[in-house]
Amino acid sequence: MRILIINGPNINMLGIREPELYGNKTYSDLVNMIGDYCDKRGIDTKFFQSNYEGAIVEEIQNALSNFDGIIINPAAYTHTSVAILDALKAVSIPAVEVHISNVDSREDFRQISFVRKYCFATISGEGFEGYIKAVKLLEERMGESR
Ligand code: DQA
Repeated sequence: MRILIINGPNINMLGIREPELYGNKTYSDLVNMIGDYCDKRGIDTKFFQSNYEGAIVEEIQNALSNFDGIIINPAAYTHTSVAILDALKAVSIPAVEVHISNVDSREDFRQISFVRKYCFATISGEGFEGYIKAVKLLEERMGESR
């Protein structure tokens, strides 16, 4: 099983940005945590973080035929990007939307999610653990849960 884990703008600032919302751990801590979990389960991973919408679109397009699942935290692009939604639809790879903070209890503009219209599940407000939950959901979906 091959999973692509995509993180959008400012996720590279984890550990510095709004620690009361996102915690004290860094993006590399996040990558290591997911990587360790997946290594133990024999799941191949690719991590991609970008602050650019078009780069995220291209990464999703390039995933075609190369990945069985996508975990995506589009960050601020969640609330604005039809292009990222369309890219997910184009490649038609099962995808889970993840948010570190609980977007549903924050500002009104964070209540809108374009990618949610494609993703088969959304995990919000569970911190870094939300990404592990997303891996488990993809495993279940692929029928590879052990
Ligand atoms: C976020 C929530 C978004 O509203 C915000 O723009 C982010 C991070 C989260 O992980 O909680 O940058 O996606």
